[in-house]
Amino acid sequence: MSSYVTRKTPGDTAWFTHDRFGMFIHWGLYAMPARHEWIKTTAKITEEKYDKYFKYFDPDMYDAREWARQAKAAGMKYAVLTTKHHEGFCMWDTQYTDYKCTNTPAGRDLVREFVDAFRAEGIHIGFYYSLIDWHHPEFPIDPNHPRRDDPDAYEQSKDRDVRKYAQYMRDQVRELLTNYGKIDVLWFDFSYSKDRGKGDKAWMRGKGKDDWESEELIALARELQPGIIIDNRAEIEQDLWTPEQYQPTEWVRHAETGELVVWEACQTFSGSWGYYRDEMTWKSPEMLIRMLVNTVSIGGNLLMNVGPTSRGYFDARAEKALKVYADWMKDNSRSIYGCTMAEPDILKALPANCRFTQSEDGKRLYLHMFAYPFGHMLLKGLAGKVEYAQFLHDGSEVLFNAGGRQEEQVEVNKDADLAALTLPLAGQDVLILKLPPVKPDVLVPVIELILK
Ligand code: GLC
Repeated sequence: MSSYVTRKTPGDTAWFTHDRFGMFIHWGLYAMPARHEWIKTTAKITEEKYDKYFKYFDPDMYDAREWARQAKAAGMKYAVLTTKHHEGFCMWDTQYTDYKCTNTPAGRDLVREFVDAFRAEGIHIGFYYSLIDWHHPEFPIDPNHPRRDDPDAYEQSKDRDVRKYAQYMRDQVRELLTNYGKIDVLWFDFSYSKDRGKGDKAWMRGKGKDDWESEELIALARELQPGIIIDNRAEIEQDLWTPEQYQPTEWVRHAETGELVVWEACQTFSGSWGYYRDEMTWKSPEMLIRMLVNTVSIGGNLLMNVGPTSRGYFDARAEKALKVYADWMKDNSRSIYGCTMAEPDILKALPANCRFTQSEDGKRLYLHMFAYPFGHMLLKGLAGKVEYAQFLHDGSEVLFNAGGRQEEQVEVNKDADLAALTLPLAGQDVLILKLPPVKPDVLVPVIELILK
């Protein structure tokens, strides 16, 4: 069994740390300006001007079953959809505002179709819910707000009551966690309580757990969905730590206690969460696979984001990226699901430009080759510890020699080349894998090592 013990979580994270890989979906009115999901505030668009998106939002090509099919093929075992992003627009038929998809040309409950389609594919359901709301009349203007630079921003904001907004959030979270069956993940975003306005805007305050009334909000969520997994962005530690847009290089730890925690890196295919037509920094196929392997190799989950178009489909670039995952995961998902960071003594054997993952039961070790070596791979310290080795993608045997001390020098496979390789290393505690000179046609080849 894995020797790694993580900090106890309030929610049921067992399935989550087994499944490892999820789809994030950022979809809302911001898909229409198609220039990042923060466009309303970065361009300081007024309500009147932003309303044209409300007026014309018509995802006539939305087919959640197609989304779910692509997610499943990509090997994504859970999916988190933005039910409401910072713009305040609601993607479900909420009773607490008219600013919702059923009042646009869409004319239907988009969350309902997402839930039904992804659940039908056996994918766990997650809801992203923005704590920030640039549309709500009781949400005080602050340093992130689209109206922050209005000359009369203070006048606009001074009578707003954030407690009324906190109640609105509880009402909406109650709807979301009552009307759509079992919800597995609740993803709040985000707190910025240390932010302050400057100069004549010094009255502006960031917002955190006291503004959101996070204790009550989280208690409500857990009362309605007892096993639910909740992230840490309502400014109260819950189940998930959530590094984003960077690649952690070590298993994330609790800042005070140093305990290993359950963590999930969320990343984008390109430079934007929401659909961004002219954004060109799309990650290469190799990078996409490496991000997943890197994350699992240090005990984390990866939530990879898609930003659908306002017509309701994944654009060709997103589909191509998902296909990269589908092609690799089809043969290699065994090195991801039910796997975690390799044991410390095993990690000492890690060759350069490679990553290990290891099955939770400790019996299977996966060697991911980010760079393909010529001829052979040396695994120091693993002599005599491996029973069988194969490429995961096609199940073809990988010949190896036990290496090991003289008395353990065993010709595991009658192979002259391997023997020739082994001789100089005889007596050393090293396992020598013999590799085909040509890299298999796999983005990141994986060797499965069955341990004794
Ligand atoms: C950041 C972005 C937000 C996005 C979130 C995803 O908070 O501001 O737009 O939804 O990351 O983690």
